[in-house]
Amino acid sequence: MAWTVPGVISRSKGAPVETVDIVVPEPLAGEVVVDVAACGVCHTDLHYREGGINDEYPFLLGHEAAGTVAATGEGVTNVAVGDTVVLNWRAVCGQCRACKRGRPQYCFDTHNASQPMTLTDGTPLSAALGIGAFTPKTLVAAGQATKVDAGIDPAVAGLLGCGVMAGIGAAVNTAPVQRGDTVAVIGCGGVGCAAVAGAVLAGARRVIAIDLDDRKLAWARQLGATHTVNSRGLDEAGVVSAVQDLTDSFGADVVIDAVGRPETWRQAFYARDLAGTVVLVGVPTPEMQLEVPLLDVFGRGGALKSSWYGDCLPERDFPQLLELHADGRLPLDAFVSERIGLGDVEEAFATMKAGTVLRSVVIL
Ligand SMILES: NC(=O)c1ccc[n+]([C@@H]2O[C@H](COP(=O)([O-])OP(=O)(O)OC[C@H]3O[C@@H](n4cnc5c(N)ncnc54)[C@H](O)[C@@H]3O)[C@@H](O)[C@H]2O)c1
Ligand SMILES: [Zn+2]
Ligand SMILES: [Zn+2]
Repeated sequence: MAWTVPGVISRSKGAPVETVDIVVPEPLAGEVVVDVAACGVCHTDLHYREGGINDEYPFLLGHEAAGTVAATGEGVTNVAVGDTVVLNWRAVCGQCRACKRGRPQYCFDTHNASQPMTLTDGTPLSAALGIGAFTPKTLVAAGQATKVDAGIDPAVAGLLGCGVMAGIGAAVNTAPVQRGDTVAVIGCGGVGCAAVAGAVLAGARRVIAIDLDDRKLAWARQLGATHTVNSRGLDEAGVVSAVQDLTDSFGADVVIDAVGRPETWRQAFYARDLAGTVVLVGVPTPEMQLEVPLLDVFGRGGALKSSWYGDCLPERDFPQLLELHADGRLPLDAFVSERIGLGDVEEAFATMKAGTVLRSVVIL
């Protein structure tokens, strides 16, 4: 049996997304079909639509999702029909060199479903981040479904599936922020605000939120930023000196770039204290190039890191973060700015660009 359900696809570079019928096949061995309850709209979906990730159109968009397991293929033991799950894009293989070295967060053979979802004419869909969840039903590898407690609001839980986890993890796992550190976060959308929340969780002494938009800065403050800088109209030196002014003229111990552009990365690089850490979590596009004097890289020391998915391990991190949320120690609900329908994704991209939301979440 296969299911025909609506799905939000991106058919060609830059074109508006469309809601069309898609076919979700019955799960084979190691796969599960999930009834999606909610799926957040992430900037990465827009990167796909704009051709910034690759050109394997058509894409089935959506990847920050939570739902309920509807069907399992042969041999699936980690979840059962009816389980509440958050989808993830890091189902580690356990076999590759990274996994065997005990660093599964760097796994380079993560699992996705082995068969594609398709258009009704059989055209295979490329699922965004191997998920594809702007649809009421999706097919994923069993390891991509992380069991969590039932009863949690799926709109909140789903956000852990990508951007919020990426931001929190950039601070907590990748940097990692230490108690007493000063931290600056450049770009305070969903990912950057999550990095702010992560820095707070990790015990940062000072958390400086930087964005071009005061609304984003207000949200960052709600999530625990101690200081904010509106960098609109500031050049690199202006951003750097704003951070230095707020860190006893040293620069921050950790600067997280949650925009992912050469200019924001350079701001992060120079806004650090000597031997500080830069974490790049925003995703650059293929044409972007970076120019930095190599002598500055040498002379300033420290660590230049990038963070994929916050170096998370879904099985470890999702339940833990949801527990912190349930205990009132992590305001994950603050990330859900609006709840929208499946037909509203294109508008949500415009809203994202306009900067009036942290996350729009499609409710299915
Ligand atoms: N590394 C990962 O695993 C991972 C996971 C999810 C998303 N991402 C990426 O993280 C980035 C942010 O995602 P998001 O969903 O928060 O996007 P978003 O559009 O909601 O937020 C981006 C924010 O950056 C601000 N901004 C833009 N240019 C700026 C500049 N020059 N200086 C300061 N602020 C600036 C915007 O005002 C906005 O608030 C995207 O590139 C996305 O693809 C990475
Ligand atoms: Zn592996
Ligand atoms: Zn995402």
